[in-house]
Amino acid sequence: MSHSQNGPKLQTVNLVHKASSIDKQWSPRIVAEMNDYQFKVVRIEGEFIWHSHPETDEAFLVLEGELRIDLPHGSVFVGPGELFVVPRGVEHRTASEAETKLMMIEPRGILNTGHEGGERTAQNDVWI
Ligand code: NI
Repeated sequence: MSHSQNGPKLQTVNLVHKASSIDKQWSPRIVAEMNDYQFKVVRIEGEFIWHSHPETDEAFLVLEGELRIDLPHGSVFVGPGELFVVPRGVEHRTASEAETKLMMIEPRGILNTGHEGGERTAQNDVWI
């Protein structure tokens, strides 16, 4: 059961606290929904896999640490308080040298590995 079926949560969400309480890295957790979009927090460290999302853009807001996003023509570095949007269909790979906490904004139902599948695919629709 997702929280969304219990009606709106009229609560402030502390993104850093939520991200800090996730039990393992690379496991996105939903903290809020807005229309068909989900706000997910995650803790990451190391490198993810290359993938793309043909159906949607994907936004990354860094909370703590430094996120590197590898793109076909180079890498961008995103720091705390900074936002980066990966356009739909563009191959990307997220990475960080030290643990980094961030929020992703994307439509409901998007898998973290796009259509690559495999062991790095996280379970969807898990709230925290
Ligand atoms: Ni992605």
